[in-house]
Amino acid sequence: MRGDKTVTPITISSPLKQPASPRAPQTRRTLRSLLAAALLGCAHAYTIAQTQPDTLQVLHWWTSTSEHKAVDLLVADLAAENVTWKDVVVPAGSGVGELIVLKSRVLAGDAPDVAQLNGPIFSEWADLGLLTDLDKVADSGKWDKLLLPEIASWIRPHGHVVVAPLGIHRVNTLFFNRKILDQYGLMPPQNWDEFERTAAKLHKAGVPALAQSSEPWQIATLFETLVLAEGGSAFYHDLFVKKDPAAFNDPRFAHALKRLRDLKQWMATPVQNMQWPEVTRLFANGGAAMMVMGDWAKGEMNAWGNATDSSFGCVATPGTADYHLYDIDTLAMFAAGGTHRNAQLKLAQLTLSPAVQADYNQVKGSIPVLRNPDTSKMDSCARASWKVFARGASAQVPSFAHRMATDETSRDAIIGEVRRYFMDETISTQETQRRLMSIARILTKIGTDNAQDTHR
Ligand code: GAL
Repeated sequence: MRGDKTVTPITISSPLKQPASPRAPQTRRTLRSLLAAALLGCAHAYTIAQTQPDTLQVLHWWTSTSEHKAVDLLVADLAAENVTWKDVVVPAGSGVGELIVLKSRVLAGDAPDVAQLNGPIFSEWADLGLLTDLDKVADSGKWDKLLLPEIASWIRPHGHVVVAPLGIHRVNTLFFNRKILDQYGLMPPQNWDEFERTAAKLHKAGVPALAQSSEPWQIATLFETLVLAEGGSAFYHDLFVKKDPAAFNDPRFAHALKRLRDLKQWMATPVQNMQWPEVTRLFANGGAAMMVMGDWAKGEMNAWGNATDSSFGCVATPGTADYHLYDIDTLAMFAAGGTHRNAQLKLAQLTLSPAVQADYNQVKGSIPVLRNPDTSKMDSCARASWKVFARGASAQVPSFAHRMATDETSRDAIIGEVRRYFMDETISTQETQRRLMSIARILTKIGTDNAQDTHR
């Protein structure tokens, strides 16, 4: 059922040659259908003419067991619409590599029909006129009423809907191994002081408290939760969205850095370079009592047969219960002359169907992007995630590690320094702060800042 899993070779043969996409031609509604919709007082689905079978090349990085399962649901629903989903996979956690491949392909005039994206980068593609405008589908499906308000405005960066949102992951998730914690009579920690006490007890018993990889994005995932616990949402914003040099010099930042390094004593050392499914496997098999990871790990463990609550539980990472550090998965459709427009619109339309939202997010570990989702398919972790996210802007914090807070250049530069500090204990906290302050000065000067501000 699924398409080929091949990485398209990267060849940069010509400069940007995608034409600016014209605004979508208006499909004519008959007076009768308008009248009927008005009389019924409800949305009528936008009818997309799909006479011929079509194939969409979809660029993504979802290769783990649960990710495969989630994609398969979309593949099957799309097939029912006479459209074949052809995988073009760049396999690496958190999309490391996918963006490079995407940029190269766009430059070569060979953009995929669809790309999985997270973060405000899609508005840059839209500004270049490269994306298919989804306004028709969004209007007829009443997406503005259907979607959580923050998502509805986020996917419409300059007045036009340019991506189809799939689900919302919570990054500040602390997983705990139920059996291990019960065995030692321990409760999941709510703050970092409690964590230290719990970790010390586990250490005495010979159990590593925290599963962790040295992959840059995985270190960044842990680190951003420490920053949030340390300084709250406003400080997090100053650092990762505004990149205010002064924030990198703040004692709270120094404290978060020190905490990151101190946590190594509770990890199996040396910290290994493991992909996230490997770290999750290690945690699930009892190799560590706890793990900080986005809730895609929940989907993965569920797919392996480990049930939420009985085998593992999840709470907010210490000190972040009031926040939802979010990471939103979206599908962007590349216009490329409009050849696959109808098939793209079909895909966009089906991603927002309540059944797809419920089933896909259940498997993926995320929560639906809808205002009134089907809660029957949510487990305790999803319900908690939903409850916090639905509180609105004051609770919502964009994940820096997962591209929601800033541009790629800033993200990579900051993650590079934080990882160096974590791995190399000869580097002092002050030195890292000094380097990051200089980086922040350059970044804000060259104007790569505030990508996020286009949406919020
Ligand atoms: C995130 C992405 C998730 C999941 C994860 C691990 O950035 O939003 O859907 O794929 O990376 O690769």
